[in-house]
Amino acid sequence: MLIPNLADELDLKIESLAFGGRGVARRDGFVIFVDGALPGDLVRARVTRSRRSFAEARSVELLNSSNSRIPPRCRHFDLCGGCMWQTLTYKTQLEFKQRQVTECLSRIGGLSGAESEEPLEAARRWRYRNKVEFSFADNGGGAVLGFHPPGQWRRVFNVDDCLLHSRVTNQIRNHVREFTRSSGNKVYDHDSGSGFWRHLVLREAINTGEIMVNVVTAPGRFPDRDEFISSLVSAFPQIKSLIWSVNATRASVATGFPFEVLAGRGHISEEMCGLKLKVSPDSFLQTNTLMTERLYGKMLDYASPRADEVAFDLYSGVGSITLLLAGRCRRAYGIEINGKASCLAAENARVNGLGNAFFMPGKVRTVLKKLIEENAAGGKGLAGLVVLDPPRAGASKKEIERIISLGAERLVYVSCNAATMAANAARLAEGGYRLARVGAVDMFPNTPHIEAVARFDKEGAA
Ligand SMILES: C[S@@+](CC[C@H](N)C(=O)[O-])C[C@H]1O[C@@H](n2cnc3c(N)ncnc32)[C@H](O)[C@@H]1O
Repeated sequence: MLIPNLADELDLKIESLAFGGRGVARRDGFVIFVDGALPGDLVRARVTRSRRSFAEARSVELLNSSNSRIPPRCRHFDLCGGCMWQTLTYKTQLEFKQRQVTECLSRIGGLSGAESEEPLEAARRWRYRNKVEFSFADNGGGAVLGFHPPGQWRRVFNVDDCLLHSRVTNQIRNHVREFTRSSGNKVYDHDSGSGFWRHLVLREAINTGEIMVNVVTAPGRFPDRDEFISSLVSAFPQIKSLIWSVNATRASVATGFPFEVLAGRGHISEEMCGLKLKVSPDSFLQTNTLMTERLYGKMLDYASPRADEVAFDLYSGVGSITLLLAGRCRRAYGIEINGKASCLAAENARVNGLGNAFFMPGKVRTVLKKLIEENAAGGKGLAGLVVLDPPRAGASKKEIERIISLGAERLVYVSCNAATMAANAARLAEGGYRLARVGAVDMFPNTPHIEAVARFDKEGAA
């Protein structure tokens, strides 16, 4: 087998897509992952990494195009790398997502014969995000405000119209950029730690129309602050929360800092699945509102919550799933590591008049351990239904063991990473849980990200 050298240029026929979205080519059986290539393409690709068992390459020329290839719609496509699947027909995107869920479950989870249901199509293929984060930089000609090209953390390209979010939030970003360019204050410089403008975070409550603008700067005087506020709020009356956050650290992150409310409130209000939700600058909210409603609808369909049972919502965030379960069950408990999110969840329960929703801040493994130790039956009977929505890394081994100890009749797994869900599913199967249903939900069209929901039934449960 011929292992290619770094910077070699190879003509490669792309056979399939790997988990994560890169094209896969084989050369005498040797696997090469190719960025910027789709199945069916013949590309000339430059090798960027070479190992004994695989290589990585980047397409530098399209020699023959796949039948599934369509022209990119976004004007920033060449620089951005954000919606890398926009050149793939939507039908093919969905087929890959469905297949990858099935393949993960069989290859990683050992659940052969598991068939993923038809994926839930995206409600909107473009302008679906309710949150976007932009960075400021100065490439030599004054402030630019936009995204980093892939792998180039120092550079930022100006974004004029990003198709991930609404027209009005695009206009707001452009307005802020114009203001900062004429402000006299400089963009923050990572090397020297000097300068002012750092990030801009925009959040939009899709169902109520309320918008939050969060300008993140280094410490210092906000130039022409009154003019900034009045120009923005009068041009965009949808802005119900204008926030100034100050990041006094070197870390290049946009949230989690002390903030001042410049205009309106410190939060915006959203309504989802009949729930009222308060969204503050740091709170987690699924980023595609319309598809979150469909995702939660599927979760409820799989969960079939009953009025006489107790439900657990693990990794509960700001409690949306807990509240939906509380509205349908005797009691619902949310467990969440982030104390602030747990407090917000409790407030959301109050706002929605759900006195049977309770929140336990802490790690799932620690909170479950305590509950299991305090329960005479070692956890059995604490919950009839468990919903878990872990972060990308999935649930840890200990957490899965403790979830199994609860002995719930039904487990519903909401996953943003089919590979880690499949690894967890293997252990659930050993613990007596049979995969009953699974399906993908297309929360992020034009990207390789896959959201999936699965239901596991306890063997022998009535
Ligand atoms: C994918 S989010 C789920 C949010 C929520 N279910 C929703 O739909 O809005 C995962 C959540 O798990 C929390 N988390 C991460 N590790 C955790 C752990 N070990 N124990 C409890 N919560 C954890 C994160 O803070 C985050 O809020």
